[in-house]
Amino acid sequence: MDLKTYLVKKRALIDNALKAYLPEPEGPAAELIRAMNYSLFAGGKRLRPILCMAGAEAVGGDEQLALPVACALELIHTYSLIHDDLPAMDNDDLRRGKSTSHKVFGEAIAILAGDGLLTEAFHLMTRIDLPDKVDSRTLQEVIALIATAAGYQGMVGGQVIDIQTAGTEIEPSLVEFIHTHKTGALIAASVSSGAILGHGSKQQVEAVTSYGNSIGLAFQISDDILDVEGDSNEMGKGVGGDAQKGKNTYPSVHGIEKSKKILREIIEKAVEPLKQFDLRADPLRHIARYIIERKR
Ligand code: IPE
Ligand code: IPE
Ligand code: MG
Ligand code: MG
Ligand code: MG
Repeated sequence: MDLKTYLVKKRALIDNALKAYLPEPEGPAAELIRAMNYSLFAGGKRLRPILCMAGAEAVGGDEQLALPVACALELIHTYSLIHDDLPAMDNDDLRRGKSTSHKVFGEAIAILAGDGLLTEAFHLMTRIDLPDKVDSRTLQEVIALIATAAGYQGMVGGQVIDIQTAGTEIEPSLVEFIHTHKTGALIAASVSSGAILGHGSKQQVEAVTSYGNSIGLAFQISDDILDVEGDSNEMGKGVGGDAQKGKNTYPSVHGIEKSKKILREIIEKAVEPLKQFDLRADPLRHIARYIIERKR
């Protein structure tokens, strides 16, 4: 399979669905909706929704069924980026090739746009047609999984340690904790939720969850490496900021060469649980490799 073609196709599918779900910027809250749309359609890679659909596909499920949840994951991710860029957090000016939300709309609207996206994500997940497509128990399981991954036990829990430990020296195990939580949790939940919606068996869901945990950590390690070696134009965000802010990253804790080695090892291990799957898991296998090679 050609991953590039696959990603382009899936991105188009997701972008169209997102456009259909998001409201037009009109009415008294038009500025808020404008800010939500601004960040959402600024040009993200759509990795999390793609992983959700690929997770459904891997277990032989209907990927279309996963589309609303896939879109919800992108809303949550986009909210996390808006808040991550705020002056009180990473204080960044560039995101997805454009000025960050708070630079364009001001801090108050940026915070509210994040709130609006996060909340709308959960609204969206309740809009799946029941009961002919997904039974309510399955949907409940998926919503709980995503809430846990996004909240204090997952992404937000990782972000707080990222912020609190900046400028201090920490053990390698704590930087692993930061990465598996701030980034790994939502990525793992993306693949798992797809597999659950695709009616995968318990064993299949466990296998893709293990894959998701590995590539989630790997994705943040490669993000750290790109902050050192990447090209700002290509990535659409600033580089060098981690060192400037004293962030604890894989390169800061392990050095750049060891970080690359760890990244390769994690990706090798990531695809092992997929052995039990047929060709329909090829997108997941290719995405794992892409995480090592990506430039943006
Ligand atoms: C950036 O995520 C933040 C991290 C978790 C490293 P992505 O690299 O997926 O950003 P977009 O969605 O493509 O903008
Ligand atoms: C962000 O990690 C993880 C999130 C949950 C948003 P980073 O702070 O390294 O992400 P970038 O480099 O700003 O995209
Ligand atoms: Mg950050
Ligand atoms: Mg950041
Ligand atoms: Mg980063």
